[in-house]
Amino acid sequence: MTDRKLKIALSVYGVGGPGQHGLWKDDRIPKNASIDIDWYIARARQAEAALLDALFIVDSQFINATYPAHYLNRLEPLTLLSAIATHTKHLGLIGTASSTYNSPFNLARRFGSLDHISHGRAAWNVVTSFDTGTSRNYGLEDHLDYSTRYGRALEAVEVVRGLWDSYEDDAFVADVENDLFLDPTKLHALHHRGEHFRVDGPLNLSRSPQGQPVIFQAGISEEGKALAGAVAEGIYAPGEDLQSARAYYADVKGRLAQHGRTWDDLVILVGATPVIASTDAEAQRLAREIYEADNDFDRKLGAFGRAFGAYDFSQHDLDAPFPDVGELAENGGRTRSRDIIERAAAEKLSLRETVEAFTEYRPSPFVGSPETVADAIQEWFLGRAADGLNLRTRTPDDLDVFTGTVLPILQERGLFRTEYESDTLRGNLGLAVPENRYAASRAEAALSV
Ligand SMILES: Cc1cc2nc3c(=O)[nH]c(=O)nc-3n(C[C@H](O)[C@H](O)[C@H](O)COP(=O)(O)O)c2cc1C
Repeated sequence: MTDRKLKIALSVYGVGGPGQHGLWKDDRIPKNASIDIDWYIARARQAEAALLDALFIVDSQFINATYPAHYLNRLEPLTLLSAIATHTKHLGLIGTASSTYNSPFNLARRFGSLDHISHGRAAWNVVTSFDTGTSRNYGLEDHLDYSTRYGRALEAVEVVRGLWDSYEDDAFVADVENDLFLDPTKLHALHHRGEHFRVDGPLNLSRSPQGQPVIFQAGISEEGKALAGAVAEGIYAPGEDLQSARAYYADVKGRLAQHGRTWDDLVILVGATPVIASTDAEAQRLAREIYEADNDFDRKLGAFGRAFGAYDFSQHDLDAPFPDVGELAENGGRTRSRDIIERAAAEKLSLRETVEAFTEYRPSPFVGSPETVADAIQEWFLGRAADGLNLRTRTPDDLDVFTGTVLPILQERGLFRTEYESDTLRGNLGLAVPENRYAASRAEAALSV
């Protein structure tokens, strides 16, 4: 039996994110779930009672009326996670923040603070922002192009990590007798001068129990995978099917060695929406029913515009060929929009047929009886398509069903923990605590004397 254990996060989408557009109508979901801190705290407690690794908060900063209900009205991730931190003890707290629309100093300070508040459970999910319209909320006419966005992302992570090392671990001696609060030789300014940022530092915050918060990443373009290979310790990856997930896993893990990293330095979590019932047939029926409840063409047409900068496709003739709108997507949802444009051209699809083709019923790979779902998760995990899951359950009841029926099977098979290994997210994910760079070079210098 392997020592490797599944890692499982819970992504909370309140009144319903992508693929869950009608969830807000479910009786079990309060209409204000996405802005109700008590609702989030209850989900976090549920996740922690089930020994899950982390709560995962996704985010975006641009909307129009066609966006999913959860996107229209939701809490800012770090504010939210700071509150959750005070009601949990073990659960990791992964917050999404854009490297395109935040300064590294602010990011370092906010995530560093969350790491202290949670006693070592914070992670930053680095995204470059999907929605092109975000630029106009930040005083920019245009969204930055891919290479600039991902160049900024890499440099932002480097700067943030540099700032997190501002103090060595034992910098605050607080020696009353000798009137010495801080040992100034253990405080370091960064003096970063790069292509995108100029940041002096130091950060006015000491290192936390994790040394540094964990770096997550989400974004599947070539540029996104390069960023992940260089700096990510966790990834939120799409989990559409076993074959593509395996290829993605091998691709990204294969990039680690060139950065002096090993496969164990990166945990890949695939998005999973399990649908579980007492029999496989019943679960399949339920999954289809959930899809059909949301299967409204006008709604799908509205949502289809997101990858093209929230473009309004309703202005086009639905039965004419897919319109020539490729340039609208080049800076935003390029990975998805190129797929759409290429397929529409290759198969000569009309706009209506294109929307239908990309929104057709595709059941999650994790649909079935508890045993079937556990088997599928095991296959993905042992077959190196994933190191774990980012669960996108719909209702609190669905989460209970997963944790009450599937997790015990995985635990029995030795694939999931029966108690937390650690109080920190790094500890539970099996990630090393990064050594402070200045302490490391001091130790190296001492050795070479
Ligand atoms: C599974 C997954 C989840 C993502 N979650 C977010 C998110 O919460 N917020 C966001 O701005 N972007 C999110 N992204 C998008 C990326 O940050 C990225 O900006 C966008 O997908 C375009 O880059 P790409 O072509 O590299 O994927 C996500 C991407 C993936 C694949």
